[in-house]
Amino acid sequence: MKKKIVVLTGAGVSAESGLSTFRDSGGLWEGHNVMDVASPEGWRKNKKLVLAFYNARRRQLTNARPNDAHFALVKLEEKYDVTIATQNVDDLHERAGSSNVIHLHGDLNKARSTSHPDLIYVLNGKDINIGDKCEKGSQLRPHIVWFGEMVPMMEEAIKHSVDADIFLIIGTSLAVYPAAGLIEFVPEYSEKYIIDPIKPEYNIHHSNLTFIQEKATKGTTELVEKLVK
Ligand code: OAD
Repeated sequence: MKKKIVVLTGAGVSAESGLSTFRDSGGLWEGHNVMDVASPEGWRKNKKLVLAFYNARRRQLTNARPNDAHFALVKLEEKYDVTIATQNVDDLHERAGSSNVIHLHGDLNKARSTSHPDLIYVLNGKDINIGDKCEKGSQLRPHIVWFGEMVPMMEEAIKHSVDADIFLIIGTSLAVYPAAGLIEFVPEYSEKYIIDPIKPEYNIHHSNLTFIQEKATKGTTELVEKLVK
């Protein structure tokens, strides 16, 4: 049986694909206060702004390409049973070819009904506009987990993490819960790695933890080479 690797990724894994991270831009996210565009309050206040913001992110994503970090994680599957739990709403892990990707914070390329959360639609790069409705007649919103909302995929990510032989964290400030706490479910004996040019402030006292101070492309490529040897 293959050993199990769980990978938690954040905005840093897509930074070298040209997608900006959140906290590196000083609390602004592409020129906006994060709470204006990523919270239920922001949505209630200005739906048009929120839709325009995610429409722009979606267009930007259409032109982005997976980088060597995304591709290296695909290579891991040659030798390991790999599950990626990503906080990113982009689809660069899938486009690189990873088989098992859990989206903790949703998916930019999907819309969902504001009244029936189970009604989810694939956008295929299209915009969501005011007046776009689900089959029950309610406005559509981005299929994104905003601040203060539940993270339904967390349970699935925990289910994998408790069995991880190796746990890998790439490009996340570990500032947003519950995703940041996923490492707490990983067995003590498992090998753990963090790849990030800046050490996250998260108070980590875990055993068997190695910090690799590198950008995602270099750090991940080198670590994967070592792990598949
Ligand atoms: P952050 O912007 O908080 O953190 C990005 C991390 O990536 C930082 O630790 C950077 O040092 C690191 N980084 C920057 N460039 C890098 C590179 N080339 N290679 C590797 N790492 C690099 O992003 P997240 O931790 O992903 O939530 O943020 C978590 C959540 O907060 C996001 O999912 C989003 C946001 O609000 C929602 O949208 C709900």
